[in-house]
Amino acid sequence: MASASFCCVNDSVHIVLFNGPVHDKIRTIPDLIGGKMNMTHMHITSWVIALILVFVAYGLYSSGNSKGAKITHMILRLFYIIVIITGAQLFLKFTAWNGEYIAKALLGLITIGFMEMLLIRRKNGKAATGIWIGFIVVLLLTVVLGLRLPLGFKVF
Ligand code: HEM
Repeated sequence: MASASFCCVNDSVHIVLFNGPVHDKIRTIPDLIGGKMNMTHMHITSWVIALILVFVAYGLYSSGNSKGAKITHMILRLFYIIVIITGAQLFLKFTAWNGEYIAKALLGLITIGFMEMLLIRRKNGKAATGIWIGFIVVLLLTVVLGLRLPLGFKVF
């Protein structure tokens, strides 16, 4: 069912993207694997899994299970790549570029940077309070801006 976009910048492009016909075609990688997800679902799924893996790896490093932590950390790095590929694909193929999209992509990359820094500091037994604060702030900004932009869910 089509729905209207409330954007004021690049309205015509946003309406086309948000109204269905183009949005329904956002299936590049999922099509390859025969899935039914569209690209935004794939993007969301990959960063949610990455987020869970950060907590699992952090817990494993904290409890001294370095082998388990190392394996989880390696799987997480694979998910960084999937998040970046799906995000880059949304950015390059399906969006009407403006400053908000560039900010969204940069914030996404910074979030991934914080995830990696958190784990490296935990692994080396260093304090990570500042990194935790930075991580939570940047993660929230990324999610809020992502949900504000017109593809997929438009909450704000
Ligand atoms: C952990 C990191 C990331 C998080 C938490 C995140 C979060 C989100 C969220 C919540 C959305 C909205 C999805 C929807 O409305 O259906 C989104 C969309 C998007 N993301 Fe990410 N993202 C991350 C990384 C990235 C990266 C690295 C890039 C670029 C290289 C990127 C580019 C995009 C683009 C272009 C969109 C579409 C925006 C739209 O029009 O709705 N993201 N992301």
